[in-house]
Amino acid sequence: MGRLADLNAFMENQEVNTVDAAKKVRIGIIGTGWIAEAHIKAYLNQPDVEIVAGADLIPGKAKAFFERFGVEGVKTDYASHKEMIDDKSLKLDAVSVCTYNRQHTIPTIYALENGINVMLEKPMCVTMEEAVEIIKAEKKSGKVLSIGFQPRFDENMKMIKKIVQSGELGKVYYVQTGGGRRRGIPTPFGTTFIEDETAGLGALADIGCYSLDLVLNALGYPKPLTVSGYKSAYFGTDPNYSNYVRTGHPEYASKFGVDDFAAAFIRLEGDIIVDFRISWAMNMDTAGDTIILGTKGGLRIPSTECWNGTFTQPLKIYHEVCGEQTETVVPMLQTKATLFDLKIRTFLDAVKNGGTAPVPSSEIIYNQAILDAIARSSDLGHEVEVVIPEI
Ligand SMILES: NC(=O)c1ccc[n+]([C@@H]2O[C@H](COP(=O)([O-])OP(=O)(O)OC[C@H]3O[C@@H](n4cnc5c(N)ncnc54)[C@H](O)[C@@H]3O)[C@@H](O)[C@H]2O)c1
Repeated sequence: MGRLADLNAFMENQEVNTVDAAKKVRIGIIGTGWIAEAHIKAYLNQPDVEIVAGADLIPGKAKAFFERFGVEGVKTDYASHKEMIDDKSLKLDAVSVCTYNRQHTIPTIYALENGINVMLEKPMCVTMEEAVEIIKAEKKSGKVLSIGFQPRFDENMKMIKKIVQSGELGKVYYVQTGGGRRRGIPTPFGTTFIEDETAGLGALADIGCYSLDLVLNALGYPKPLTVSGYKSAYFGTDPNYSNYVRTGHPEYASKFGVDDFAAAFIRLEGDIIVDFRISWAMNMDTAGDTIILGTKGGLRIPSTECWNGTFTQPLKIYHEVCGEQTETVVPMLQTKATLFDLKIRTFLDAVKNGGTAPVPSSEIIYNQAILDAIARSSDLGHEVEVVIPEI
């Protein structure tokens, strides 16, 4: 489909078509790697966006990126996010922070301090200290900060929240979540996902953050209290890992500095237990479905092979009807636009209308606190308390 057809399809599917195309949002992209491609495609689908700048640490990468997408007149001669944000001639309204995890915090804070709204890729960051600094900068700036959890815009994800919040399951007391891959350490474009200096955390943060958001969002983001966590790296550090061998990169094993599997037992406020596991590589076909147990019903959310927040099979509710054990299949729902179009559109609407962030840091701080606590607990070898400072 061409750009115009894409745009028409998107606009037809907008539930409320109120985009003021005359009022443009001036966008810069920080980090022009893999995920920046999904951002630029979504921005190009919007009628009210001017992409004015891009920056990458690798010289020439941003220029080549915009050329690849046929976008002209974009300034790219910046050594990093800083020079781009310092260029006041750009009059930036917003930036997408599409850098690797360890470079989420500094560019985000610098943009907010300079009065620029931020669409920040997931996971929010690596440590709890970073999350706190980001939120301080957000509060001080009064700007919009939205975190890139696009599965939130999936109609099936919304339905999970509706089911839980409706009381259909009764009081929820136990959740099993997670998922993952049998052989899926992400190295298609190099090693930024697996090196400690760039990624900081592995499967735990990369796809674990989605699994946690799936259930915490449904539960209304109750506060995490304690975590007993575990992480390991048996596959990533093995030069004989089959995908390294197949792609001719046994040297990736010595660069691997994060986790490829993590698990945790998490206590949430409201007497709710979350049993969590996530994998980039394991000797099993699935790390299990997500299940939510309540006093009136249980919800099964089928696992997918490469868990990244997509739904491929219907949800099922296990309950009793007039004393008989009954299973209700919830029909799969169609989401009318792509999740990235919705993630970017809702962010732009918040920027233009001064609304709240579609995926707010006030929720994701709990997600980050759990990731941080799992890593901490794993290093210490015992359960840890989750402390969430007042900001
Ligand atoms: N939402 C999703 O579906 C999704 C999917 C994949 C990745 N991601 C997230 O996106 C982020 C980036 O992943 P990626 O695969 O695109 O990584 P990548 O390594 O392909 O690209 C990151 C780019 O950022 C650049 N960079 C780093 N620091 C910078 C700075 N200060 N200023 C300018 N440029 C800088 C790097 O040079 C690199 O080119 C990760 O945090 C990842 O978790 C999200």
